[in-house]
Amino acid sequence: MNKAMNIQTIREDFPILSRTVYDKPLVYFDNGATTQKPRLVVEALVDQYYSVNANVHRGVHYLSQQATELHEGARETVREFIHARSTNEIVFTRGTTESINLVVSSFGDAFMEAGDEVIISVMEHHSNIVPWQLLAARKGITIKVVPMNDQGELLLDEYEALFSERTKIVSLTQVSNVLGTVNPAKEMIAVAHAHGVPFLLDAAQSVPHMAVDVQDLDVDFLAFSAHKMYGPTGVGVLYGKEEWLDRLPPYQAGGEMIQHVSFEKTTFNELPFKFEAGTPDYVGTTGLAKAIDYMNALGLDQIAAHEHDLLVYATERLKGIPDLRILGEAAEKGAVISFLVGHIHPFDMGTLLDRLGIAVRTGHHCAQPLMQRLGVEGTVRASFGLYNTKEEIDLLVNAIERVRQMF
Ligand SMILES: Cc1ncc(COP(=O)(O)O)c(C=O)c1O
Repeated sequence: MNKAMNIQTIREDFPILSRTVYDKPLVYFDNGATTQKPRLVVEALVDQYYSVNANVHRGVHYLSQQATELHEGARETVREFIHARSTNEIVFTRGTTESINLVVSSFGDAFMEAGDEVIISVMEHHSNIVPWQLLAARKGITIKVVPMNDQGELLLDEYEALFSERTKIVSLTQVSNVLGTVNPAKEMIAVAHAHGVPFLLDAAQSVPHMAVDVQDLDVDFLAFSAHKMYGPTGVGVLYGKEEWLDRLPPYQAGGEMIQHVSFEKTTFNELPFKFEAGTPDYVGTTGLAKAIDYMNALGLDQIAAHEHDLLVYATERLKGIPDLRILGEAAEKGAVISFLVGHIHPFDMGTLLDRLGIAVRTGHHCAQPLMQRLGVEGTVRASFGLYNTKEEIDLLVNAIERVRQMF
């Protein structure tokens, strides 16, 4: 365990971790899908509804101004967290999926036409595949796919070879939600820029686990979700370089995103409000800011080190189980392990582990093209968070052994 992080104390911040399922202590290894919430996040949501609830931006009254201060304060917290230059570059969305759809739709409308190309990779989540397919159906663009090796690492030579005169954007995940692979984002962004092409990075599985600095990466767009980083559901972020966001047309239309409306002509609001039509989840953004405060207090490097310890320990222990196969053995890997045991169907494994109190995810993990590449229907996935322990990994290993013996 990391010196600076007392995991037992941390676990007390998450009330749900002390509950039982089927009379067994809960072991929660489904953090890739969503993380649990610390008390201070939940309390911030309740406090705001009880004492500072009013719609933001539009009110002259006291409560509305207080709510607006919290909401805009949260934007500043996010800016600092990912080291953006300005809060104009922080757009609040419903989550990673909406952030990606925003870019696909606005960038696609403004800068892509039939025959233009987007580069994605074989390990993308459906949310970074299907929006491009809809754009392809609408506008006749072409999707090119970066392949990977059997360890689950993207092939960088092949990536570079995919660029052509028609390449307009690259859209890739920083960390695979299935394989755990940490892609060399900075290097891949530099390659795109050398071809004069902007880069959208899906940070859904990276921001919760490591420090992400948009200026250091020099990334053009970055998407992530609050609920995967100890914050509430329904809130996410799109970071965009101001020079890009300025040039993109609005995504959705309605209140908040306008400056002036008449039946003859409507003008749009300044950044970032141009992309925030309608009432935002201003309570959720307060919760996100609290989650960031919580992670910052523990230290992003400490969180990463603790989770790396868990990954190394779990990998070693799982490899000791006969017939267990790990899918994804990249040299750079986040705290996610996908595996299969003999011919046991992942669904059966997941169901039986659940009966023993262990929550893992099974299936295709919204990455069916990756499953096809791996030649499997699905996997069992254990994904770790800052509150997990080696003792819980021991419970997982023992439980897998029990299931294996049942088959
Ligand atoms: C890599 C990746 N991208 C995007 C998403 C979509 O995130 P959300 O459902 O929060 O929009 C996920 C969710 O699992 C993910 O793992």
